[in-house]
Amino acid sequence: MITRRLHPILLSLVLLVTSLGQPALAQHTLTGELPKPAGSGPAIVLVAGATGRTGRLVLEQLRRDPRFAIRPMARDVDAARKNVGADYAWVAGDVTKPGTLGPALAGVSLVLVTIGATERSGPNSPEFVDYGGVKNLTDAARAAGVRQLVLESSMGVGSGGGVLGMLLNLLSGDALKWKAKGEAHLRASGVPYTIVRPGGLTDDPGGQAGIALQQGDEGSGRIPRADVAAVMIAALDNPDALRKTFEVISDKSAKRDAWRTGFSALRPDSPASP
Ligand SMILES: NC(=O)c1ccc[n+]([C@@H]2O[C@H](COP(=O)([O-])OP(=O)(O)OC[C@H]3O[C@@H](n4cnc5c(N)ncnc54)[C@H](OP(=O)(O)O)[C@@H]3O)[C@@H](O)[C@H]2O)c1
Repeated sequence: MITRRLHPILLSLVLLVTSLGQPALAQHTLTGELPKPAGSGPAIVLVAGATGRTGRLVLEQLRRDPRFAIRPMARDVDAARKNVGADYAWVAGDVTKPGTLGPALAGVSLVLVTIGATERSGPNSPEFVDYGGVKNLTDAARAAGVRQLVLESSMGVGSGGGVLGMLLNLLSGDALKWKAKGEAHLRASGVPYTIVRPGGLTDDPGGQAGIALQQGDEGSGRIPRADVAAVMIAALDNPDALRKTFEVISDKSAKRDAWRTGFSALRPDSPASP
């Protein structure tokens, strides 16, 4: 029974562990408009993790949404311009360096976070990115008066994953443990938030299947990064998604867009929510 429940979590976490340090996607051309200043048009969304595999898909989808102007953040802006797109208004920022985040957040209304540790140990490991980085971003978002932070976390963070989860925490530099601490800091911060916990991430095209929004962290499954990006964007400025933590996986039995009206059925977090 335990094995049946943990196996899909193991799959997700193996994907998570093996994703550490993987190269970014190939360069592609982008032609979007640059963000407008705060107060004069669409809400500015800071995308932290914009050079990553979910983050790039967030940029591609966000640029088609007239409600928002994009401010992608990167540790290396020159590399981001070259590898992701020169026409985005990149801002420099490293979540392990709090002093870089205040300037990055100036004029920002919304924050969408798809960061993940790139090392199993060392200064860019889960302790300093999935916990420290989320904490630094949360604190900077509070100081900047941001109206919502949407965080990509992971299935298994709420349940801990039992014995196999402990083993996988060992292999990943305690990714689940540090993500749980990052989530907890965000929940307690007073910053309005949404926490999205995907199952195992794939690079399959999005929009091919339905998406299940679940709570309790007892489910299992996989989901394309493109669908996670769509859920995170749909949560932006959506009152039905505020102060909620939920898991997302593909669901072939569900209608493709049915999830879009599913936020209101989710329970808001309680102070003790894991
Ligand atoms: N793999 C899975 O199956 C799975 C399952 C569930 C959840 N997740 C989680 O989902 C999230 C997204 O995963 P992904 O595979 O799409 O991401 P990814 O491709 O690994 O990208 C990670 C992003 O984080 C950025 N980053 C790392 N350290 C940073 C720092 N110190 N400051 C600022 N940015 C930093 C990277 O920027 P650089 O370009 O500068 O390195 C990159 O943009 C991660 O948190 C991951 O753990 C993964």
